[in-house]
Amino acid sequence: MKKILVVFGTRPEAIKMAPLCHALRAKHGEFDLRICVTGQHRDMLDQVLGVFNIVPDIDLDIMRPGQTLFDITARILVEMKAVIESEKPDIVLVHGDTTTAFASALAAFYSGVAVGHVEAGLRTHDLHAPFPEEMNRQFVGRLASVHFAPTDKSVANLAAEAVPAQKIFKTGNTVIDALQWILKRLASEPARADAILLRLAELVHFPLVSERYVLVTGHRRENFGQGFEQITAALAELAGRYPGVHFVYPVHLNPNVASHVHAALSGIENIHLISPQEYEPFALLLQHCHIVLTDSGGIQEEAPSLGKPVLVMRDVTERPEAVDAGTVRLVGADQARIVTELSALLDDAEHYQAMAHAHNPYGDGNACERIVTHLREILV
Ligand code: UD1
Ligand code: UDP
Repeated sequence: MKKILVVFGTRPEAIKMAPLCHALRAKHGEFDLRICVTGQHRDMLDQVLGVFNIVPDIDLDIMRPGQTLFDITARILVEMKAVIESEKPDIVLVHGDTTTAFASALAAFYSGVAVGHVEAGLRTHDLHAPFPEEMNRQFVGRLASVHFAPTDKSVANLAAEAVPAQKIFKTGNTVIDALQWILKRLASEPARADAILLRLAELVHFPLVSERYVLVTGHRRENFGQGFEQITAALAELAGRYPGVHFVYPVHLNPNVASHVHAALSGIENIHLISPQEYEPFALLLQHCHIVLTDSGGIQEEAPSLGKPVLVMRDVTERPEAVDAGTVRLVGADQARIVTELSALLDDAEHYQAMAHAHNPYGDGNACERIVTHLREILV
């Protein structure tokens, strides 16, 4: 039986790898699945493991408060050597563009073990945006021998880098599998969904289903400092200009983000700074919000399928599909642009409707099944 070692470490990787772990586990007897978490994130990773009922076989528990890229890379590289030596997998599967993905892929490569890259081929072609993610995913692309690319564009990016066509598989993005699974579960248990909404309403002190709110998230390293100053100044300006609109902001735990955001925005009545939410409440926040303002990768993929206009606080994106479809706009980490574009969505109903159409360029919810099918063919 072929042994697959799945490795992830942060919140978004966990959300996107959880349905794949379940799909691999569902094929009893076909694969020997081992799940290793690096613990690059602790609280935010554990939130996801709990929701998806995943118990890792190995937990490297590497997170330290205020960790640097050097700390994460060095710790994971050394620890993964030992894991790969003792587990002896036939393939190591990593996800996306985090430092967990890069360092784990490098450890597998040094150990002579094949690497499979889930969410392969996304590119901005700007090594500083997002930083260090663009470099991480390009590195993983060089190290991998199998590439599970979500869209036509990501397939084309890999082809342009001379990755052989027989090593690229278009699968859709597993985030849609995860989102559909969580929304289906909430729909099948309306009393639980209501209870979660009630808890959220108590947290923000307004009824989420009947009042307009903008859902905000931000955590990119290249926005630290000046970028976050612009972002928080824009939010303060918008909150003053639109006292009837709420701004709900689950603040990332990275101290470079949290300390600035709390210092700049605490005490503004219609800005609600809350802690990172588990995936179920966050999905409900997405479902009921009016507009999304974010620099996140995953949220750019989720929000279009829920018909929400998304303003992305970056100058470039590796996810151009929803920009092309008109539901996502790039506004940079720029106070004036954020204020102008968000005001246009709040003031102009026609403009809002033009952006708010539900569509799904990132997947159909069957990405994991496709990946499992390809792995079956590859691991003969
Ligand atoms: C990481 C990823 C980024 C991804 C993001 C998702 C890298 C280099 N960065 O960025 O690609 O988009 O996760 O959120 O791989 N912290 C906690 N508890 C947690 C998580 C983080 O306290 O559960 C704090 C710690 O002080 C930690 C710091 O946040 O040291 C930074 O975490 P880190 O994983 O280095 O960076 P992120 O900004 O979270
Ligand atoms: N998310 C969540 N709770 C939150 C904020 C985000 O569950 O409070 C989810 C969101 O739905 C998406 C993922 O986390 O699936 C995105 O993570 P993040 O923005 O931290 O990372 P990125 O996608 O930018 O790498």
